[in-house]
Amino acid sequence: MWAVAALGLALVLQVAVQQHQPTDLNTLAAVAAFGKSDPTTVLAGKSAVITGTTSGIGEAIAVSLLSLGATVYGVARSETKLKAFAIAHSNLSGSFKPVVGELSDFDSVTRAINDIIADVGEGGSLDYLVNNAGFHHGGPFQLMKLDTTTKSGFDSCFVVNYMSHVLITERLLPLLEKGSDPRVVQVSSSYHWQSNAAMLKVGAAGIPFAADGSARDFTQRRLAYGNTKLAQILHARALTKAKAGTNVKFVSICPAWVGTSIAPEGLMRAGLKAFAFTPEQGIYSAMSALFRPEIRSGDFVANSNLIASLPILKRILTSQFASVTATEVRTSLTDAFAMVLMAYQKHDFGYYVQESSPESYDEAVGDELHAWTLSALKPWL
Ligand SMILES: NC(=O)c1ccc[n+]([C@@H]2O[C@H](COP(=O)([O-])OP(=O)(O)OC[C@H]3O[C@@H](n4cnc5c(N)ncnc54)[C@H](OP(=O)(O)O)[C@@H]3O)[C@@H](O)[C@H]2O)c1
Repeated sequence: MWAVAALGLALVLQVAVQQHQPTDLNTLAAVAAFGKSDPTTVLAGKSAVITGTTSGIGEAIAVSLLSLGATVYGVARSETKLKAFAIAHSNLSGSFKPVVGELSDFDSVTRAINDIIADVGEGGSLDYLVNNAGFHHGGPFQLMKLDTTTKSGFDSCFVVNYMSHVLITERLLPLLEKGSDPRVVQVSSSYHWQSNAAMLKVGAAGIPFAADGSARDFTQRRLAYGNTKLAQILHARALTKAKAGTNVKFVSICPAWVGTSIAPEGLMRAGLKAFAFTPEQGIYSAMSALFRPEIRSGDFVANSNLIASLPILKRILTSQFASVTATEVRTSLTDAFAMVLMAYQKHDFGYYVQESSPESYDEAVGDELHAWTLSALKPWL
């Protein structure tokens, strides 16, 4: 229902209000190029690992870095799509290295990491890691039909969007620490506001409820995406604190709505492609997080300033009232906000370092989740 309302409102606003384009959008590469005369070699000698390069935002970031001359390790589950990507972009100045990795399976992720480490070689380094691959369990009508349990027993959305990225980050950190101005970018979402972090706390069963793949619970599944997007920001901030002496910056971003394959096929996907940012626009916050010198570890960067400019919504979302009736109020308000965002985002498109949800700054929750995740991943670390 929200999706249809969002598309309707977006249609009205697209026609009614003039859109804003930041002046440097057409030279997005300038964010990385720092004014250098030949952008095609500006990232020569730099290397990046990007998950989910076979579609949408990950593909657009990979293309952008390749066109600036970087070496890009593209981690994706489909070998066929990786081959198609390599052929389609073989004209770019950088070097593309396909790496097969099914992110719902820690054994497959481990093989992908080992392939990257072997290829980088003794004495080598990495400069960028973009933890981008992700998906949504789907709309309310599909939720209870799904089998969300992975081989490891954890929820598939939790594993793909969050846990596998913790594994990749931990294993690649020593190589990143040898890079120059290295950064880890977490592709999160404004949907992290849906989660009040309750399901990310380690419960009596010894795991966070959000991680439990066998819980056939409607609310847990409905909030799975928001929980993982909050977990990603908490992960970046836990690392910022735990690795205080490191040269690596851990930054989270929200691309706002982007016309990709994340929405199910049909009206929603078509609507996204028509009204939301293109993937090339949607990567603006990620490119800023990767290359702007003023970015600090722990920052949250977005393509639209809307949520920070809606103090009433923010006050309701963070009020006692919202936390008492937690899920229903927050879920509906975040959906409503997302609807407005979809309609409005093109009008304040830009680069904004902004506040994320109050829970995303909760060090106790972040540290506990980080410690639990590392212990759950122990066999693969
Ligand atoms: N689009 C938006 O409006 C929006 C807004 C906020 C945040 N985001 C975030 O942006 C990120 C990228 O999404 P997108 O919009 O670009 O969607 P997308 O077009 O569906 O791309 C998602 C990517 O993740 C990969 N992926 C999904 N499940 C995987 C698995 N089990 N193992 C390995 N790779 C897997 C997909 O691989 P396949 O190509 O094989 O399917 C694809 O490459 C996600 O983390 C999403 O949460 C998107």
